[in-house]
Amino acid sequence: MRVQIYDTYEEMSRAAADLVAAQLLQKPNCHLGLTAGSTPVGLCAELVKLYKDHRVSFSECTLYNLEEMADVPPEDPTALRNSFFHPHLLDHVDADDSQLKMPDGFADGLEEACKKYDALMDSLPEGRLDMQILGIGADAHIGMNLPNEKLTPEAHVVHSRKGNPICAMGVRHILLSKRIIMIANGEAKADAVAAMCHGPVTTLAPASLLQLHPDVVVLLDKPAASKL
Ligand code: GLP
Repeated sequence: MRVQIYDTYEEMSRAAADLVAAQLLQKPNCHLGLTAGSTPVGLCAELVKLYKDHRVSFSECTLYNLEEMADVPPEDPTALRNSFFHPHLLDHVDADDSQLKMPDGFADGLEEACKKYDALMDSLPEGRLDMQILGIGADAHIGMNLPNEKLTPEAHVVHSRKGNPICAMGVRHILLSKRIIMIANGEAKADAVAAMCHGPVTTLAPASLLQLHPDVVVLLDKPAASKL
C-alpha cells in the first residue's frame, strides 16, 4: 500500500486524475472501475479538464461502477448512471452511455443482475478490471461492503438507508482489480483511513483488506491522513 498525502482536496484529486490518465494512455481500451460519492467529484472534474486539454481520451475504455440502484430502469434520473456519472463525467468527455456498465436489476431481476455483473467482469482479460477507484466510508466500508463478521465475495443485493435495493460489487472483484486507487479526504475519514492502513486486516473494517493487495495507491488530503 503506497500512501500519498496532499495539502488540499484539489491536489489529491489532480494526483488521482493523473493516475487514471496514465492508465488510459498506457491502455486506451482498459477496463476502469469507478466510484460515485462526494469524494470523486474533484477527480471527475480533473479528468474532464485533462480531456479538454487533449491529454486523455475515454473513447476506447469501458467503465464500471461499484453499484447501481436496482429498482429503477437505467434511464431513470435517480439511477447513479444519470445522477452522478453523466453530469460529472460522461457528458463532458468522449465516452458514451454504452461504455458505462452497471448491473441492471430492473431488467434482469436482483439476483440475476448481480450474477451477470460478476460474469461480465469474469469475462474480462485475466478476469479482472485494470483499475478500480475506491472511496472509503467513515466506518471503513468500501463500495457497499459494510463492516460485518463475514463479507460477500460476489456481487450481491444491499439496501439503501431508505430501503431501496442496490446491486453491488462484492469484495472479490474489488480485490482482483490489477490496481486500486483509494481516495479519501476530510477529518471524518481519518479513523477509517488509519484502520485501513495500520489496523488489523479484518472484515469489520473492510478497507483493511486492501493491505493484502499488491498494488494499492492511497491518496489522502491532510485531514484524512491526520490519524496515521
Ligand atoms: C458510499 C459508496 C462508497 C463511497 C462511500 C463514501 O457508501 N457506496 O463507494 O466510497 O459512500 O462516500 P463519500 O465519498 O460521499 O464520502
